[in-house]
Amino acid sequence: MSLSLEERFEEMKKIRDELFRLSSSPLYEYRQKNKYYPVVGEGSHTAHIMFIGEAPGKNEAETARPFCGKSGKVLDDMLESIKLNRSDVYITNIVKDRPPENRDPTEEEIKIYAPYLDKQINIIQPTVIATLGRYSMSYIMNHFGLASLVGQISELHGKEFVAKTEYGSVTIIPLYHPAVALYMGGNKETLLNDFQILKKYI
Ligand code: URA
Repeated sequence: MSLSLEERFEEMKKIRDELFRLSSSPLYEYRQKNKYYPVVGEGSHTAHIMFIGEAPGKNEAETARPFCGKSGKVLDDMLESIKLNRSDVYITNIVKDRPPENRDPTEEEIKIYAPYLDKQINIIQPTVIATLGRYSMSYIMNHFGLASLVGQISELHGKEFVAKTEYGSVTIIPLYHPAVALYMGGNKETLLNDFQILKKYI
C-alpha cells in the first residue's frame, strides 16, 4: 500500500529519531564524540529513482546530508549529465553513520543499519534502485532475491535486474561508487555511460 505524502514524511521522521538514539551501533560513540549526525537521506519522498551509497564521509556526517563532499560532486555531475534533478530522486546510504577514517562498512554495521534502509525503500517505493558501490549492490541484490546473480561489480555495473518487492517490481541497476571516478579517472567515463541507462526511467 502506498502512503500519502504526510505519512511518508512522518515515517521518515520516525526513522531519523530512531537513528539519533541508536546507541547499540558500534558507530554511535564515534558520532557523539565528534558531534556528527546520522545521515538519513535526502530528496523526494515520491521519487521513482533511489540511489543507495555506502556510508557517510566527514562532510556528510557534519552536515547530515548524503553525498555532499567530493564524491557528491561526482554524483551531481552524473545527474546533471542526464538532466536529472537531485531534488527529484532520493539519495541515501546503507550505513547511516560515518565509519572512522572512511573505512569500508563492516558486516555488523550493515546488519544494524539495513532495516532502516529497508523501511525507506518501502516508504518511497521506487521503481528503480541504483546502487553506488559494491556494498549496496551486494546488499540490495541479496535482499531482493537475486543472490545467485551477485558477482563482481566490474561485471555487473550498468546492467539492469528486475526483482519483486512487497509493492511491485523494481529495477536494480548496480553502478560504480562515484569515488572511483576520483581515484581512477578512467572510470568517470564508465560511470557517465552507465548513467545513460537511467534516462529511460526519468
Ligand atoms: N560516500 C558514500 O557512500 N555516501 C555518502 O553519502 C558520501 C560518500
